[in-house]
Amino acid sequence: MSAPVPELRERATACADRLCDADEVLLASHIDADGLTSAAIASSALARAGIPFETVFSKQLDVEEIASIAATEYETVLFTDFGSGQLDIIAEHESAGDFTPVIADHHQPADADTKFHLNPLLFGLDGSSELSGAGASYVLARALESENTDNTDNRDLAALAVVGAVGDMQISDGELVGANIGIVEEGIEAGVVETGTDLALYGKQTRPLPKLLEYATDVYIPGISNNKNGVLRFLDGVGIDLMENGDWRRWVDLTDEERQIVASALVKRAMRKGVPAAKIEGLVGTSYTLAAEEKGTELRDVSEFSTLLNATARYERADVGLAVCLGDRGDALERARTLLTNHRRNLSEAINWVQTEGVTREENVQWFHAEDRVRETIVGIVAGMAVGADGIDRGTPIFAFADKNEDEVKVSGRGTPGLTREGLDLSVVMKEASRAVGGDGGGHNVAAGATVPKGTESAFIERADEIVGEQLE
Ligand code: C5P
Ligand code: C5P
Ligand code: C5P
Ligand code: ZN
Repeated sequence: MSAPVPELRERATACADRLCDADEVLLASHIDADGLTSAAIASSALARAGIPFETVFSKQLDVEEIASIAATEYETVLFTDFGSGQLDIIAEHESAGDFTPVIADHHQPADADTKFHLNPLLFGLDGSSELSGAGASYVLARALESENTDNTDNRDLAALAVVGAVGDMQISDGELVGANIGIVEEGIEAGVVETGTDLALYGKQTRPLPKLLEYATDVYIPGISNNKNGVLRFLDGVGIDLMENGDWRRWVDLTDEERQIVASALVKRAMRKGVPAAKIEGLVGTSYTLAAEEKGTELRDVSEFSTLLNATARYERADVGLAVCLGDRGDALERARTLLTNHRRNLSEAINWVQTEGVTREENVQWFHAEDRVRETIVGIVAGMAVGADGIDRGTPIFAFADKNEDEVKVSGRGTPGLTREGLDLSVVMKEASRAVGGDGGGHNVAAGATVPKGTESAFIERADEIVGEQLE
């Protein structure tokens, strides 16, 4: 067997062997795009290997959640896309004989050890940019495939691993890097993934052209980004018939030649408006397309697919997202699309609110408190989208609060790759600042989260501001 990520091969084999020894497995995963794809990959691999299992999802693996898992009859628990950050708690249950953990994750591990722990960070790979939870689950799935009862291999699952990586924002400078590349290559070999060089905008499959350009703000083009009439004038001037039966065509509907023409007109416009060359480069990148999915659907583009999944699991419908990942193109897909409409409305209302209210600036960080205006399960996405929005500085880490329940507040922190290169590590900031006020948290250097007691927000920000100051000194 070839190994998609050679560094992890031996550990993956040990984890796979342990799962094969189990009579039945409880599979526990996280409620975002990476967590759902992780669960879909792991459950497909377990099913194909003939290992009985049940799947559960959790918003946040904490002391209570792990205790409720320990209270089940399962002797083997497979954690995907979380588990490493809570390893201290999990290891205590393991010592008490409650269950044997097998973990496929990419978060910063807590200070404890366990035998069946598959995490890129333990093998010198970067968990925030080189391998996602779905990637770790894929590596495990490949190690399990020798047990497949029908002689197939598990490389087709690479498609979901790419969706998970992109959903966790692992694209750096326009492409997937590190261990993710090996997974993309296996997906191409298996015929489920296609790559190309293309415009790096969100919505190439489903958005009508004017919306594709108007909503593209990652690279801000004056007269185009957030400018409906400007976009219409621009499209009118490119000299191609962009309508079909009275409707706007989408990017997927254009021929290669037409795409070239629109893309170079866009680049020319950006240059004329004085957008720096380094930014303009960001308009083009590697596209990841799922070859087996229907053209013009959310499932065909990995980025749109991941948003569709977030729209389910972050609204307590992980079952819908999982069914879509497992191939349901009927009821589950229809339900997911309805949830997506709702998710989009929530994101757009939240961003508008943040832009109107503005953020509070401290010495080294900026923050806002959405209270009950934004669901705590999407406040991290909103924080990420807010960085770079009008009036919000890209060079300062952002913290976003939202009410979780009567007594607790969720806080999400987001940075940029540039800041992490200067020393920012939000997983440390979140862990230390939240523990200082009686909460807990963790995550990645560039994106992390925590739960803190209500009323401790200012003390939390004060501590976070200090730690960020020390990191960026
Ligand atoms: O739990 P988990 O690892 O899935 O979450 C990762 C989170 O970090 C995602 O919400 C993703 O959007 C965010 N992220 C980010 N920027 C990066 C990397 C990750 O906002 N460069
Ligand atoms: O929702 P998710 O975290 O997957 O979104 C990833 C990125 O996709 C967002 O940061 C945003 O730039 C883009 N997006 C968008 N329109 C949406 C949803 C997401 O432009 N409706
Ligand atoms: O929730 P949010 O999107 O802000 O999470 C960012 C990252 O921090 C995710 O990878 C998530 O798993 C992690 N996190 C954590 N502990 C928390 C909250 C979030 O490790 N209490
Ligand atoms: Zn993840």
